[in-house]
Amino acid sequence: MKPENDLILRAARGEKTERVPVWLMRQAGRILPEYRAIRNKLSSFNELVETPELAAEVTLQPVDILGVDAAIIFSDILVVPEAMGVGYKMVKGKGPVFHSTVTTQAEADKLRIADPGSELKYVTDAIRIVKKELNGRVPLIGFAGAPWTIFAYMAEGSGSKTFSAARKILYQNPALAQDVLNKVTETTISYLKAQIEAGADLVQVFDSWAGILPEQQYKQFALPAIERICEAIDEVPVTVFAKGAYGAFDALANLPCRTLGVDWNMNIQDCRKAAGNKTLQGNLDPCLLYAPDEDLVAGTQKMVSAFGKDKYIANLGHGVYPDTDPQKVKLFIETIKTL
Ligand code: CP3
Repeated sequence: MKPENDLILRAARGEKTERVPVWLMRQAGRILPEYRAIRNKLSSFNELVETPELAAEVTLQPVDILGVDAAIIFSDILVVPEAMGVGYKMVKGKGPVFHSTVTTQAEADKLRIADPGSELKYVTDAIRIVKKELNGRVPLIGFAGAPWTIFAYMAEGSGSKTFSAARKILYQNPALAQDVLNKVTETTISYLKAQIEAGADLVQVFDSWAGILPEQQYKQFALPAIERICEAIDEVPVTVFAKGAYGAFDALANLPCRTLGVDWNMNIQDCRKAAGNKTLQGNLDPCLLYAPDEDLVAGTQKMVSAFGKDKYIANLGHGVYPDTDPQKVKLFIETIKTL
């Protein structure tokens, strides 16, 4: 079924839209008290992610409460390493902590290429529920982490400022890194295809840790994996968000994807020039949502004039921060909608 509000899909395909579509990275969870209420009743983050009815409910919250132009399925990029055999738990105040890491060939050999039909069925089940409840109101975004970002967590075993355990492997044992990246890529392709099959109308690949690699290593290890994913997914438009990948932006512009994410440090005009015919998505500084209303409105308007209204999807330059006031988010969305 074609969604009633298909602004995001049309913008992603490069078609004209009556107005600029808007959604926020990390809009599900994090900021809404309605999310906290559900989350606090459960013993763990994983329980929420793995219970399709609840994951569906929190996916729909931002559509109902904030009025965004798309839903994004509530899950996490870390369900992929989990399905491949390296599980994690989400620790309050610390973030993800893995039960094991992947830093040796023996550990890499143990990784499974996951079958999304079984190991990730809870995600596709949640997507089917969301699609039913959305009933065509707005499109649903599926997602996965980019292989480099997933590898970074697998090698590190937790979040990190430097991901130096993962980066060390690129220098000391590039063959091991390549082997793991290949396995993650294969899993990610079948995982995204399963999400699309279940009803995802477009998909986004998050390369959250793109910016910590030197350009040459980004092009050697990270980019080919994303390229394979883009080549494999031709059913729906693909968005690639490689945060901080300044040196590689020209190369990203050559990927067979429709939309490129832009973070708040990237120069909008430079990105436009590089992106050619592609659609751009971004890039409001998430901290501008802490500013007085008039500054937020002015900054939002300035952003849209810099991007232009065509081939554009309004968003933040990264995920919304947990302590953001939902009223500010509503103001941001309203500002975009009334431009
Ligand atoms: O609204 C949405 O975007 C859908 C849900 C979503 C989550 N994680 C839920 C979540 C999405 C798209 C993600 C992606 C994700 N997860 C990324 C890529 C995007 C980015 O922000 O760069 C990354 C790097 C992760 C890994 C991750 N998940 C970390 C480091 C953490 C801890 C810190 C944090 O972000 O809160 C998480 C936890 C997480 N994932 C929460 C939510 C709602 C908070 C945990 C909780 O509510 O208990």
